[in-house]
This record gives sequence, structure tokens and C-alpha cells, in this order.
Amino acid sequence: DGLDLAEGESHMHREMHEQPISAERMLRGRLDARFGTSHLGGLNLDARDLRAVKRVKILGCGSAYYVGQMGAQLIEELARVPADAEAASEFRYRNPIIEPDTLYVAVSQSGETIDTLLAVQEIQRKGGRVLGLVNVVGSAIARAVDGGVYLHAGPEVAVASTKALTSMFLGFALLALQLGRVRDLSIADGQRIVAGLEALPGQLKEALDLEPQLADVARRLAEAPSLFFVGRVRGYPVAREGAQKLKEISYRHAEAYQTSELKHGPLALISPAVPTVALVPDDELAERNVGALHEIAARGGPLVVVTHAGVDLGDLETSEAVDLTRIDVPRNEAELDPVLMTVPLQLLAYHASLHLGLDVDKPRNLAKSVTVE
Ligand code: G6P
Repeated sequence: DGLDLAEGESHMHREMHEQPISAERMLRGRLDARFGTSHLGGLNLDARDLRAVKRVKILGCGSAYYVGQMGAQLIEELARVPADAEAASEFRYRNPIIEPDTLYVAVSQSGETIDTLLAVQEIQRKGGRVLGLVNVVGSAIARAVDGGVYLHAGPEVAVASTKALTSMFLGFALLALQLGRVRDLSIADGQRIVAGLEALPGQLKEALDLEPQLADVARRLAEAPSLFFVGRVRGYPVAREGAQKLKEISYRHAEAYQTSELKHGPLALISPAVPTVALVPDDELAERNVGALHEIAARGGPLVVVTHAGVDLGDLETSEAVDLTRIDVPRNEAELDPVLMTVPLQLLAYHASLHLGLDVDKPRNLAKSVTVE
């Protein structure tokens, strides 16, 4: 890591490519392969406290909110504890119900986002307990929370978050493992996830090696006035994050949708002028996802499919009439795949911005951290 850039390099480019290293640092010393669990020193919660947790509520803004949705999904899958994420900027304005057996988690790269900090304070005022997933050591949120996990991503300068987001995801995976292993998660499943986490840094590198292909796709998509990003269940927050990145740094309109909801409205907008980036992991929903791609193709909508090598796209790939680009990302455990699928979307947004000649690191109207309401 470092702040010195090579000639012509942007912070975002540098930070994307630091992900294999920053992910490894995030995991270092925290995985327990023998017992299929994790060690997180700073939680200030023992096994009994963890067992008493009935619900998890995650709060963050922007990318931290979307990765919070990925984290909630992970926690529900591995620990079978009801979990959800909410935009911290909305939370305190709806007089939220604060429950003593809910574990609140505030997620923030900077640790200075005022909306997230005020949500933390509101929870604490009403007797709730908050953990932090924060990158900047000693920041306001890091100081305010009752315990937490540092992200160890190193300094992140580009407005569009990349390596911090990846470390946030890993933080949720570590937390989900711990919550799971004091409940129903078997040692074998715990070990399966630990092995998956150990493989992730190398696979992040492989995903980054897709850069030339994504640069090509970005050049083709950059001129589209509007795009859809679609995914289901695990893939939906990834789609939201991908659309957000594109909006932030390429100023293209992008809308994220649940693939399953396309037929309930947005299909009306699909045309050869409106490309769709679709997340189709090799999971139990793959066939249904491919079905939805047919609906898009039938209306002439160009497709970029972010998927795994095992997924059969059938005649979508062979038909001359269909404009489809396939991006195969490395495959991990299904629960951990979302983080690998964020990487091509980072590369897509980055190269779209570059192609359009925009300031990748400092997009107009946005700040790296928003410290006033
Ligand atoms: C700003 C940035 C976003 C970021 C969000 C949360 O809006 O433009 O890129 O995701 O703040 O920042 P944080 O530091 O709390 O993660």
C-alpha cells in the first residue's frame, strides 16, 4: 500500500489491484481452520453474548449499505439469525425500535460518515449495543462503538470504494462464522467457509485479471444512456453496488433490479439501446436467471452476463441474434461468491469512466466521506 502513484495511475486503479493483499491482511490471524471458526479480538462479546443475539441489524451509507445487505444475507445463511441492512441516513428518522437482543453493526470505511455516527448514537441512547466494521483506526465511529473489527484495508483515497468494500464483506463473513459456530453451523460447514476464505485473496487476483475483457465491455457500454444491473438473492446487493459505482464515476444512469421483478415492470424499458448486466452465479437460481435473460434477449437487450464457468447459457451464447458477452469469475463457496462478483463491476465502472475521460478518483458532486448532514 501507499499513496505514491505511478505516472498516470489513478487511486481507484491502484486500490482495486491492492485487494488480494488487503483481503489477506483482513483475514490474517483471524481464521481457525481446526474448529471452522474465526477469532475476532475486539468484539467484546463472549460465546454466551453471541448466543443471546436474536437479530442483526446492519447500518451504513452508500457502498457500505450495499455490502451490509450482502453481510446480512451471509449472517442469515451461516448463522440462521435474522439479519437485515438499512441505510443509516434513514434509520434514526423513523423512531426505530431498539431491542436489547439485537446486535447492531455500523459499517464505514472512513468512520466519519455523520449519518452512520448519528445512527450509532441513537441506538446507544436507547440501550442498544453496536459493533463497528471500520477501516480508519481511531475515527469517530471506531471510538463510539462498543466493540468491532478493523478492516485493515490501508488508506483508501478514491471516492468509489473498492478494497474497503471487500474487507467489509470479509468482516461480515468472519462475524457470521462466529455467530454460526456457537449455534447450528456444523464444524464441517465452518471449515468449508474457512477454506473458502483462505482461497479468496488468490481468486480476487484472478478476477482482477479479467481487466482487459472488462475494459472492452466498458468501451461498448459507456455510451449507453441507461443500463440495468440485475441479480437475485445473493446477487441483488451486488447488482446495487455495481449500478452505484457506474453512476458515481461514469455519470451513466444505471438501475439495479431483482431479476425476478423485471417482468413486473422494467421489462417495458428493455430495448437494443438499454444494456443489462446480469449476475448469474452457479447456484440453485441459475436456471431461473437464464430464463429471465431470454426475456431480455427477446426484446433485443444487449447482455453482459457475470457468471461461473459451469453455467449453461444455451442458445443465448450461440444465437447470432443475441448480443451477449460472458464474463466467467472464479468460483468459491456459494455464500462467498458475491464478493468475487463485485470485482468485474468495479472494473466495468472504472473503464467506463476512463473511456469517457472523466475524473475517476474525484467524481463531481461527491465527497469521499460525508461529515455534515
Ligand atoms: C460517501 C461516498 C461513498 C461511500 C459512503 C459511505 O457517500 O461517496 O462512496 O460509500 O460515503 O462512506 P463510509 O466512509 O461511511 O464507508
